[in-house]
Amino acid sequence: MKYERIEVRPIAGACGAEVHGVDLAKPLDDATFAEVRRAFIENLVIFFRDQEITEEQHKAFGRLFGTLNIHPRYMPLEGHPEIFPIRKDPEHTENIGGVWHSDLTHLPAPPLGSILYALDVPPAGGDTMFASQYLAYEALSDGMKRMLAGMKGVHDNRIQSNKVASERNSARSSKLRQDNQEDEPECEHPVVVTHPESGRKALFVNIIRTHRFAGMTEDESRPLIKYLCDHATRPEFTCRFRWEKGSIAFWDNRCVMHYALNDYPGYRRYMNRVTVDGTRPV
Ligand code: SIN
Repeated sequence: MKYERIEVRPIAGACGAEVHGVDLAKPLDDATFAEVRRAFIENLVIFFRDQEITEEQHKAFGRLFGTLNIHPRYMPLEGHPEIFPIRKDPEHTENIGGVWHSDLTHLPAPPLGSILYALDVPPAGGDTMFASQYLAYEALSDGMKRMLAGMKGVHDNRIQSNKVASERNSARSSKLRQDNQEDEPECEHPVVVTHPESGRKALFVNIIRTHRFAGMTEDESRPLIKYLCDHATRPEFTCRFRWEKGSIAFWDNRCVMHYALNDYPGYRRYMNRVTVDGTRPV
C-alpha cells in the first residue's frame, strides 16, 4: 500500500527506512500517525532527520505508541524520569549498547521499542546498526526451526555489584544507579516469537540476557545461544544508520537487535532515549 502523507525511503534491503514529511515538534494528525505506525511495522526501524524537539515532545511522540518505561538501571535525565540519556564524552572509553542486543528482555514484558534522538554527534563514527530478527528466523533450516519451536530462553539481568557499577561509571558518561535495588529477575520467553502486530515470526535471543534455555544448564545452552546470536546479526539481515544532529531512530525491540558502534574516541555523542513499554512475548 502506498503512503499518502509521508515519504518512506528504505536504507537497506533487510530493514530500516527514513521517513520524510513529518515534524515531530507538532502534533500528528490521525492519518499521518497511522502511516508512521505502518512504516514502523513494515520497516522495523524508522529514521527521521532534522528534528528539533523538546524533552516533552520526545515523550509525547513515545506516548502515541504506549506507556513509557523508566530505565531500571541507569540514571535518568534530571527532571525527566522517562528519558535515558545515552552519552559519551571525549574522555570516556565505554559506550552504551556496544554489543548486539535487544533492550530489557529480562522483563516479563520487554519494550515495544525505543526512540533515540541525537543532540550532538561526532564528525564521523558512532553509527547504529540494526538486525532483522524476522530474516534471522526465516533463514534457519526447517530442522532448526522445528527444534526451536518449543524452546524457551531464560533471560536474566546479571546485577553488577556497586563496586563494578562504580568502575563502569568512571569509564562512561551515562551513569548506572548506585542504589540499584532491582531484584535479579529471571524470565522465560519463547526463542521464536510471533510479532503481535505483523504476525511474523522472529528469533528472540539476546546474548547479554539469555544465559540458558529452560530445562537446560548454562554449559549445555551456551553453544546454541552463541550460534543463534552470531547467526542473528549476519550482515545481510542488517542496516546501518549514520547519525546527524536532529536525527531520530525508532526501532521495534520485538523484531530487531541493535548495536552502537564505539569508533569515535575523543568526540562527544549525546543522545536521549525514550522507551515504550511492550507486552509479554508469545
Ligand atoms: C542503545 O540503546 O543500546 C544505544 C543505541 C545508540 O546509542 O546508538
